[in-house]
Amino acid sequence: MVSNLAKDEVQDEEEEEDDDDDCDELPESFKKPPGQMSGARASVSAEAYGSWNQKKAFEPPVHPKNEEQKGRLKAVLEKSFLFSSLDEKEMELVIMAMVEKVVGPKTRLINQGEDGDFLFVIEEGQLDCFIKQKDTNEEKLVKTCEPGDAFGELALLYNCTRAASVESRAKCVLWQLDRETFNHIVKDAASKKREKYEAFLCKVPLLGSMDAYERSQVADGLQREVFAAGAQIVQEDDPGDKFFILEEGEAYAEKKGVGKVMDYKNGDYFGELALLRNQPRAATVIAKTAVTVLALPRSSFKRLLGSLDDILARNTSKYN
Ligand code: CMP
Ligand code: CMP
Repeated sequence: MVSNLAKDEVQDEEEEEDDDDDCDELPESFKKPPGQMSGARASVSAEAYGSWNQKKAFEPPVHPKNEEQKGRLKAVLEKSFLFSSLDEKEMELVIMAMVEKVVGPKTRLINQGEDGDFLFVIEEGQLDCFIKQKDTNEEKLVKTCEPGDAFGELALLYNCTRAASVESRAKCVLWQLDRETFNHIVKDAASKKREKYEAFLCKVPLLGSMDAYERSQVADGLQREVFAAGAQIVQEDDPGDKFFILEEGEAYAEKKGVGKVMDYKNGDYFGELALLRNQPRAATVIAKTAVTVLALPRSSFKRLLGSLDDILARNTSKYN
């Protein structure tokens, strides 16, 4: 099989393994175990060699919907980062391929360890994700998914078994997407974005306590922005609507009447105070060199960095 792989893919695989080594707390299920890895790679190479014709020939399933359903589903997908890079045509195909699913309380939609053929996007309701503890086999709650969240994407992205079990708390309205449509229309953009940022996010000290899955969620929500040397990235007294991680370059913060109060290098963060405290920006942050930042909008900040609230709040003592 390996001899069939294009050279780039072999290199990719090696690089991925290197990256995995960097993230030593990466859950095993997330690490693409070797047995499953070859499965995953086999299908990737088959896709590559089957080439363009296969893509062209793919016809997603069509599940008829009325305008009301289409409208609701579009609004849900627009909230979900996994689907954020689809163009209008692709969005329409995905909308028509999805199936509405209403489930009652305490319904298990996904069982850890099983194969997975669907992902779900939540329109209404909350679902709990559990992972079995290795030593006791007891299930531990690792995440509660909310409307707008997608779950069940890992088995499709990495071609591995389900990494967690997922159960509804109360009644939920969900939209289900099949593996084939996901692979052909959504997967490329979604996995590229995760891969692009994951290695970097592993090295951001603030995110050190997050597990690989939480970091992948942050990666989904990031938007890259570029600033020239001398540009103001945030301005003191402005309302704040984003949190920033410095990806490349150098920057500094200054306060009126005080002058420079902080230097930033790659992996540092700023812009958290206005979001944590609901106050205007407490300082101006200026690009010292050309700078790229990864910005997380206010709406995602609480949801994705909620688990870091304590760390962020504790760290603000450095400003006093
Ligand atoms: P998948 O592995 O396909 O099925 C179980 C889903 O649970 C998984 O995709 C994720 O969408 C979701 N999940 C939530 N929290 C975690 C976590 N900490 N690790 C892995 N998967 C998680
Ligand atoms: P925020 O107030 O959202 O926007 C300006 C940012 O500058 C602020 O969050 C902090 O991240 C950062 N900053 C650096 N030094 C200071 C300081 N001494 N006081 C307040 N903010 C500071």
